[in-house]
Amino acid sequence: MSLAIDTRVKVLVTGASGLLGRAVMLEFQDPERSGTFHGTDHAAGAQMPIKWTTVGAAFSRAEPPLVKVDLTSKESVVAAFDHLAPQAVIHCAAERRPEVAEKDKDATTKLNVDSTRLLAELCAARGIFLVYISTDYVFDGLKPSAYDVDDVPNPLNGYGQSKRAGEIAVTEVMTAAGPNAKYAIMRVPVLYGEVSPTVGNKESAVNILVDVARNASADRPQAVDDVMPRYPTHVGDVARVLADLTLRAAVKGELVHGIFHYSAEEQWTKFDMTALFVELLGTTLDHIERVTTPSTDVTRPKHVKLSTKRLRDMGVDVTARSFRGWWTANL
Ligand SMILES: NC(=O)c1ccc[n+]([C@@H]2O[C@H](COP(=O)([O-])OP(=O)(O)OC[C@H]3O[C@@H](n4cnc5c(N)ncnc54)[C@H](OP(=O)(O)O)[C@@H]3O)[C@@H](O)[C@H]2O)c1
Repeated sequence: MSLAIDTRVKVLVTGASGLLGRAVMLEFQDPERSGTFHGTDHAAGAQMPIKWTTVGAAFSRAEPPLVKVDLTSKESVVAAFDHLAPQAVIHCAAERRPEVAEKDKDATTKLNVDSTRLLAELCAARGIFLVYISTDYVFDGLKPSAYDVDDVPNPLNGYGQSKRAGEIAVTEVMTAAGPNAKYAIMRVPVLYGEVSPTVGNKESAVNILVDVARNASADRPQAVDDVMPRYPTHVGDVARVLADLTLRAAVKGELVHGIFHYSAEEQWTKFDMTALFVELLGTTLDHIERVTTPSTDVTRPKHVKLSTKRLRDMGVDVTARSFRGWWTANL
């Protein structure tokens, strides 16, 4: 006999107007998923028709249905939590531009660290599952093999330091809340996907290379790195993994706790990506200067590969779409 469990879960997504937040909203609103989530819950031998109610919070781009919440204002955040009463919070909002983080350290700390601590405190006090999105930039990129979740971070720049400080804030608050506190610190590498028409390709360090590939009329050659490997990861794949973790923690009652890594496996340099875009657009590489000497820039990690072992050991689907395949269909 199949036992039907009707479960309604309210998910609050911060940064819902941003590159990742939009994909997370789509994932939780996907009727395929909000109907019967992934078919059968094998452990319970039951169908689980999960009804995600998803509320997106944004700030300067908070057009309805997104709600406006200034994460740097305690009053604004507490009011949102009281009003919305979420059971899970996917915290995507951040200052993620390294050059802005470097220039405006105070504002970056307020958003990336202080508001993250506040969200953790509210989630811990109210038994809400919290996912904090972090970055591969918490590592220095000197390890020759893939980074595991318990490897020691050593961020090289202000952005990485602020995201690491956010991780520490979440860990401190959740550790104080006890061994059953449910939270995930999810580190991901450079992201790509559908950009917003208002912001354009500069919304992603990958999508921006489309503009480089297009700009065949540039009067000076554009230098593009062909030394540092990257693992570009589609926001939709990250969102799928986040939904899986949320299902486990907020619906099935599994203890999801600590640091996780998710990353696509395909290795591309920025030059490789640009060359693909040139091929797909039918432009030329004449205006591109391929940089093959190792950079002397010590402020960005040279090579961080995130190991997905912890997620794989839990049985989470860590597959990722083909980079060439997605761009062939979407450029
Ligand atoms: N993009 C990447 O390649 C990458 C790589 C690794 C990790 N990450 C991490 O992934 C997460 C998502 O990044 P993303 O690329 O989606 O960022 P994004 O596109 O720059 O979006 C940032 C979001 O933060 C919101 N925000 C800014 N100030 C706010 C405030 N005071 N109150 C409330 N919301 C505020 C923005 O809202 P408004 O625009 O409406 O103001 C926007 O929705 C971040 O934690 C980032 O560190 C990103």
